[in-house]
Amino acid sequence: MEQYIIRGGQPLAGEVVINGAKNAALGIVAAAVMTDEPVIIENLPDVWDINVLLDAIEDAGAVVERTDRHTVCIKGTLNTCLIDNENMRRMRGSYYLLGALLGRKKQAYVPLPGGCNIGSRPIEQHIKGFSALGAQVEISHGMINATAESLHGSHIYFDLVSVGATINVMLGAVLAEGQTIIENCAREPHIVDVANFLNSMGANIKGAGTDVIRIKGVESLHGSNYSIIPDQIEAGTFMLAAAATRGDVVIKNVIPKHLEAISAKLIEIGIDVEEEDDMVRVNAQNRPGYTQVKTQAYPGFPTDMQPQMTTLLSLGTGTSIVTETIFENRFKYVDELRKMGADIKVEGNSAVIRGVEGLTGATISTPDLRAGAALVIAGLVAEGTTVVEGVEYIERGYEQFEVKLRGLGARIEKTQINTERKVVKKKKQATTKAK
Ligand code: EPZ
Repeated sequence: MEQYIIRGGQPLAGEVVINGAKNAALGIVAAAVMTDEPVIIENLPDVWDINVLLDAIEDAGAVVERTDRHTVCIKGTLNTCLIDNENMRRMRGSYYLLGALLGRKKQAYVPLPGGCNIGSRPIEQHIKGFSALGAQVEISHGMINATAESLHGSHIYFDLVSVGATINVMLGAVLAEGQTIIENCAREPHIVDVANFLNSMGANIKGAGTDVIRIKGVESLHGSNYSIIPDQIEAGTFMLAAAATRGDVVIKNVIPKHLEAISAKLIEIGIDVEEEDDMVRVNAQNRPGYTQVKTQAYPGFPTDMQPQMTTLLSLGTGTSIVTETIFENRFKYVDELRKMGADIKVEGNSAVIRGVEGLTGATISTPDLRAGAALVIAGLVAEGTTVVEGVEYIERGYEQFEVKLRGLGARIEKTQINTERKVVKKKKQATTKAK
C-alpha cells in the first residue's frame, strides 16, 4: 500500500503534458484483438487498468510487444475466448473483451466487471444489445458467457445513455451480417475514438459522437496504426488543480473542444482560461466564486470531474450546489474533505457546498479513482501536511500523477504506508519512554 505525503500551499506553475485517454484506450486495446494482423497503438497511457488489459489479452494468446512506454504492437492471435485474469475483476474496461471476442469469435467468457465503487453499475444494456445481435448471454459464477451461432444486424434502442454499452455493442456489431442501428447512444470523445479506430481497421461505422450510430457489418478487420486522443479527464483534473492552488499552468496535448464544459464552469467562477490549438492555460489569481453544477453525459459537465469540482468549490466565495445525475453513490469522498475543514452537506444526489477560506492538512483515504485525484487537489491547497492513502486507486487512471505535480512545483512524495506508520509509532514510544 502506498500513500502521497503533500505539503500544501504551493501554487502550481509551469507546463504539463497530458497522456492518452484511458477510457478510449480500454475499448481500443480490446478491439485490437479482432484481427490477427499487427495493430500499432500510440499515445497509450501507462496506467494500471491498461496494463492489466494487455496482460489479459496476452494470457489469451495475443502477441503484445511494448515498443516504448506509450506504444504497443498487438496481434490478436487468440487461442481461447476465456478471460480469467484475476485482476480483470477489479476494473471496468475488462468487459469490452466481451464485445470484441463475441464480435470476432462468436463466443466470450469474461469476468463480471469491477471498477470504481460509485454505484451499482449494472450491465443490462450491454446484454440487451448483444441479445439483439443474436447472442445468448448468461451470467454465472461471476462470469459472463456470451455465444452466438451467427451475429446479425439489429435496431437497438438503449433504455439509458451508457458509455460502456455503446462501445461494447459497437464491438459486437462491426462483423455482424447486415446493418445495425444503435439509438440513444453515449456521445463521449472516447466513443468517437474507438469508432475511428475500428474504421481504421476496415469497419463501417457512422454517427459516433451523435446519439445514433449506424454500423454496416464487414467480413473481417485488418491491422492499423492508431494514436489515441488526449485524456479529457486528466486534462480537466490538472485545470482544476491549477485553479484550486491559484496557480498558472499550461496544459499541453489536449483537445480544447473536449474541455468546453469544464472551461465554461471555470470562467463562470472567475478563473482565467485561454485556449489554443492543443493546449489550455489556467491562470487563477483569486479564490473561485460559486455556481451550480449538474453532471451530464457528454457534452455536459463530466461526472468524472465531479469530485474535483466539488473540491474546488469548497474554497469558493459563496455557496455552490453540485448534483450528480449519472451515479448514485459518488460523494463518498466528501467525508474526507470535511476532515480538512470543508463545509459540505450531501442531500440525496446533491452536495451543498459553503465555501471556506482554506483547508487544513489531514490523513485521508481514497474511495475511488477520481475522488482520489480530488483529495490530492485538496492536499495541494491545504495548510500543513496531508497524507492521501490508497494511491493504487489513483494510479489506475493517472500516469505519474505525483511526478507531473512535482514538475509544477507541488511538494508531494509517494511513500510506502507501512514504513511511515512504523516510524511514527517508534517516535511515539520514544517520547513516552523519555517522560
Ligand atoms: C464509463 O463507465 C467510464 N469508465 C466511467 O469513468 C465514467 O464515469 C462513465 O463511463 C460515465 O461517463 C470507463 O470508460 C472504463 P455508463 P461506464 O455505462 O461505461 C448506468 C473513470 O473514472 N448503467 O455510461 O460503466 C450506470 O450504472 C470511470 O474513468 C445501467 O444502469 O458508465 C450509470 O449509473 C469512473 N445499465 C450510468 O448508467 C447499464 O447496462 C452511466 O454508466 C449500463 C449503465
